[in-house]
Amino acid sequence: MGKNIYLDYDFNGQIDYIDKVKESLLLNAKNKVPLAFVKTYGCQQNVSDGEKIKGILSLIGYEFTNIEEDADLIIFNTCAIREHAEDRVFGNIGALKYIKKKYPSTIIAMCGCMMEQKHIEDKIKTSFPFVDLVFGTNRLHKLPELLYTVVNSKSRVFECGLDDNKIIEGIPIRRDKRFKAWLPIMYGCDNFCSYCIVPYVRGRERSRRPEDILDEATKIINNGYKDITLLGQNVNSYGKNLDEDINFAQLLNRIDSIPGDYRIRFMTSHPKDATKELIDTISESEHICHHLHLPFQSGSNKILRLMNRKYTVDKYLNIINYAKSKMPDVSITSDIIVGFPGETYDDFCKTIELVEEVRFTSLFTFIYSPRIGTPAAEMNDPIPYEKKVKWFQELLKVQEGIAARNCRDMVGKTYRVLVEESKGNKLMSRTGGNVIVEFEGASDLVGSFKNVKITEARNWILKGQMI
Ligand code: 5AD
Ligand code: SF4
Repeated sequence: MGKNIYLDYDFNGQIDYIDKVKESLLLNAKNKVPLAFVKTYGCQQNVSDGEKIKGILSLIGYEFTNIEEDADLIIFNTCAIREHAEDRVFGNIGALKYIKKKYPSTIIAMCGCMMEQKHIEDKIKTSFPFVDLVFGTNRLHKLPELLYTVVNSKSRVFECGLDDNKIIEGIPIRRDKRFKAWLPIMYGCDNFCSYCIVPYVRGRERSRRPEDILDEATKIINNGYKDITLLGQNVNSYGKNLDEDINFAQLLNRIDSIPGDYRIRFMTSHPKDATKELIDTISESEHICHHLHLPFQSGSNKILRLMNRKYTVDKYLNIINYAKSKMPDVSITSDIIVGFPGETYDDFCKTIELVEEVRFTSLFTFIYSPRIGTPAAEMNDPIPYEKKVKWFQELLKVQEGIAARNCRDMVGKTYRVLVEESKGNKLMSRTGGNVIVEFEGASDLVGSFKNVKITEARNWILKGQMI
């Protein structure tokens, strides 16, 4: 496999475009200061991309609005993981037609995972003529140049395609939250799970250099962020293709040694690459949450094989049991797909059995959605959708019971929580295991860690008292 190429950027000439595009945009703006509306769909990686888009737009001179009609620039940062996500985007983008009619100078742009699919690009070309700019997941850094071209050429611009082994450093970031920060450590995915579109729309897996990650982590911590989530499609394979010999556990160790009052989590871990070294690192660390997001997708070995997941239920349980033995307080969350092609009710029952055995803190559950171009989309899928919905509801019921039991077990114990929001005299906080706890306290505690004793569990809502 080839080595990664790192572009340490003044955005590779984009800084020039920032100055040039500033002038043109100001001339066209409805307001004194140009306003942008940026809407992001989908996963944390997309949210993180959205923060970079907003960082670049801030540098150009944009301010932000939540009202589409007021905006001079509207950007939809899209998700392709399931059909439902794509339908929502098309519904919302269709509704912008009237804005373009009323204010023809408004620039309408679409970006993100959907744009890397040829059939989507074609559909926008033919059916959504009011969309001015389309750019893919690997072209985000070129936004100043792309906007400049849209404004000055007065023609539509399409800039898609994967630059597979490049990482662009130095893109400005405008973080959405004051205490929680996303920190991508790698991009793309090489796993090709048979149902998943991600490897096709985000390209090959590539890791950021450890020094770039440590530099960003230090800045985040010194700026007062308290909760840092390291992002990657499979963080457990961090480090392949780097010059330096380093794996994910070693990277975690290095981040953990940055001094400060903060906590770290990470997602997503692929069970096939989860190691005992990783679990040991977490349990011995100062700042890493005892929280593992470890998607197992299905409890049937037959389905795991068809999904190309490369582990068995036994291997999954081994790593879970090791984590529980090292960290009795570990909180485990997971993703599950119901109704994968070829799944029978028997296979589904094996998923339920695994859910009951592990006792997850929470689950992200999805009904299988065929994605054009993936191997699973070609597989025979005889189970009707209505039946899959029934199984799905059965799974939710089982998990509701488990979550309620987990919450009851927390009553009487004390947890260190990060206060995230205040409403009246109530504070909303999260434990290291990502469980929400409500307690009474003053609003100036937002952004700080407190010890809270759990006094009451109402289903899966926990109430506590500061101690
Ligand atoms: N259909 C349903 N769920 C999917 N996921 C990924 N692809 C699909 C699909 N085609 C789910 C997986 C993954 C999560 C991010 O989304 O559970 O872990
Ligand atoms: Fe998709 Fe599998 Fe890669 Fe996750 S690991 S992004 S499910 S292909």
